[in-house]
Amino acid sequence: MSKPKIFVARAVFPEVLERLSQHFEVESNQADDVLTKEQLTARLKDKQGAFTTGSDRIDAEVLAACPQLKICANMAVGYNNFDIDAMTAAGVLATNAPDVLTETTADFAFALLMATARRVTESEHYLRAGLWKKWSFDMFAGSDVHGATLGILGMGRIGQGIAKRGAHGFGMKVIYHNRSRLDAATEAACKATLVSKEELLKTADHLVLVLPYSPAAHHIIGAAELAQMKPTATLINIARGGIVDDAALAVALKERRIAAAGLDVFEGEPSVHPDLLTVPNVVLTPHIASATIPTRMAMANLAADNLIAFFTGKAPLTPLNPAVLTQA
Ligand code: GLV
Repeated sequence: MSKPKIFVARAVFPEVLERLSQHFEVESNQADDVLTKEQLTARLKDKQGAFTTGSDRIDAEVLAACPQLKICANMAVGYNNFDIDAMTAAGVLATNAPDVLTETTADFAFALLMATARRVTESEHYLRAGLWKKWSFDMFAGSDVHGATLGILGMGRIGQGIAKRGAHGFGMKVIYHNRSRLDAATEAACKATLVSKEELLKTADHLVLVLPYSPAAHHIIGAAELAQMKPTATLINIARGGIVDDAALAVALKERRIAAAGLDVFEGEPSVHPDLLTVPNVVLTPHIASATIPTRMAMANLAADNLIAFFTGKAPLTPLNPAVLTQA
């Protein structure tokens, strides 16, 4: 029997490609070209499976042109690149890559928080520019992380990892806002208290955004929300571009309505709002929160495991629309 055909939409670890090729006829984009929708569609036309990344949009138009497609396995926990309703309607299974990146991503939230609060990159740029001539009492004075109030918007697995680091490692007071309240045991483990969004904005010294993107979350932090934050506060976005109104944030940073921001994700990335590039009080990283080799390997292997399970008649590990599996 011939092997199912899959397309790996971006470059991945050769070891993972090798694993996939034991089960599938694999076509891959090891050149790592960023494919247009037309190019992606053309490559997927004769495939039964797709190994995708968060940059590969699968929507009704792509699905209509690729009737053989049965599964798209995302090598990302976020899946706003998938139109899940359209995939379900087309009988295409969607899977993502949760859990394996939780701790690495929570680590990165702290890397960005520390760099932002303590002005690490801003001071490094100053040093590299040859501007450091003397010590002075308030040079690059930032804000404390230990003992501060840590606000978390979106309290899933990664949010909980951040809360634990803050509460147990840095002695922070942790408050959070989420669609639903955590159970009492999880709240106790995270030492976290549920508050309203308004209280979160007003009270947090450091506010970390870690909620999934959805149309309802679009610009959930805009000019009005930034205006409610403390002028000394920092804002960290490791969630998704579009959750923050980047233009409004650039204004708030420029006018020092908040102290600083640390951003790993951007509206329209890899483009970055030009005004964010000119304000000094922002730390910018290119969507790397899950980027350690072991974690990226685990994410790629989980996407591969989902494809292999699906085509060998086993239960996929992390299905997003499992109803597809029982559809006639
Ligand atoms: C990264 O942004 C992911 O969703 O895994």
